[in-house]
Amino acid sequence: MLDKIKALQDEVAAINAATKEEAEELRIKYLSKKGLIGQLFNEFKTVPAEHKKAMGAAINDLKVFALEKINTLKDSFSESNLGANGVDLTLPGEAMKLGTRHPLAVVRNEIIEIFARLGFVVSEGPEIEDDWHVFSALNFPPEHPARDMQDTFFIEKDPDVLLRTHTSSVQVRMMEKTQPPIRAIFPGRVFRNEAISARAHCIFHQIEGLYVDENVSFADLKQTLLYFARELFGEKTEIRLRPSYFPFTEPSAEMDVSCSICGGKGCNVCKYTGWLEILGCGMVDPNVLNLSGIDSEKFNGFAFGMGVERIAMLKYGVKDLRLFFENDVRFLNQFKSAY
Ligand code: PHE
Repeated sequence: MLDKIKALQDEVAAINAATKEEAEELRIKYLSKKGLIGQLFNEFKTVPAEHKKAMGAAINDLKVFALEKINTLKDSFSESNLGANGVDLTLPGEAMKLGTRHPLAVVRNEIIEIFARLGFVVSEGPEIEDDWHVFSALNFPPEHPARDMQDTFFIEKDPDVLLRTHTSSVQVRMMEKTQPPIRAIFPGRVFRNEAISARAHCIFHQIEGLYVDENVSFADLKQTLLYFARELFGEKTEIRLRPSYFPFTEPSAEMDVSCSICGGKGCNVCKYTGWLEILGCGMVDPNVLNLSGIDSEKFNGFAFGMGVERIAMLKYGVKDLRLFFENDVRFLNQFKSAY
């Protein structure tokens, strides 16, 4: 039996494998229960007692020798999975992290959805505009302060080219190309020459609304905005319209919603008034209709415009506007939404 062990020892010393599979075949051939070394353990039972100790040790040594040899062969194949720099190419890849929508996009989409339920379509206009669409067609007198360089970004070479300061310019574009009935909202970026702070930014987002038809009343405006406010801030929300002034609407109003944080009782968000101002609105000035080619004898309408940042701040309790522009993922990841 010792001879047999010696012969197997030599045989194992000479084995080699070209693939991982071949190495596994060798393991089965030598080390499995019915393998060549495994069988030695069976024969061992018949060894006379006085030789058992030496024989047992020899078989065990052979087994350990074969195990190490075959494991080394196997390891050499798994090493071949390593690419340059010793990277194991067989490891599973890192899962791609799923992003979230930007909170301003979430709020914008939610507002679009609400007005879509009332039959408003979405339309967009250019960010780089001309004086006509941003000011003149909207009834701004030549000396209006909004036309001032302090407020508006103009282009030096051509005073007629400017960055729109509000989305009301898209009202004009809509009326120029479409006859009533018009029900549309216009989301988009606007630009004003303002220093960046917690409450202001030189770039922000608005959503404009325009409704033009026959016999549109102020009650239609109020009911539309009440529906909108309740859909966005909850069904207990109340609205209030305060008289205001815009060159392109007459009469004009600012709309407040009852504070969704304190329910109207008064808190530091609503500055203890119970109300939060969220948009400007009014009946479209007949002059504006006429300037865009719509007969103001036959048609009338209402318009409104709101700041998306402001609404997002109120809805989510965000205290600093700059967070929306820094794109810190720790901030952005907190807004997971169906919109
Ligand atoms: N364009 C106005 C603003 O930027 C908002 C507004 C839109 C007011 C439509 C009335 C009607 O402040």
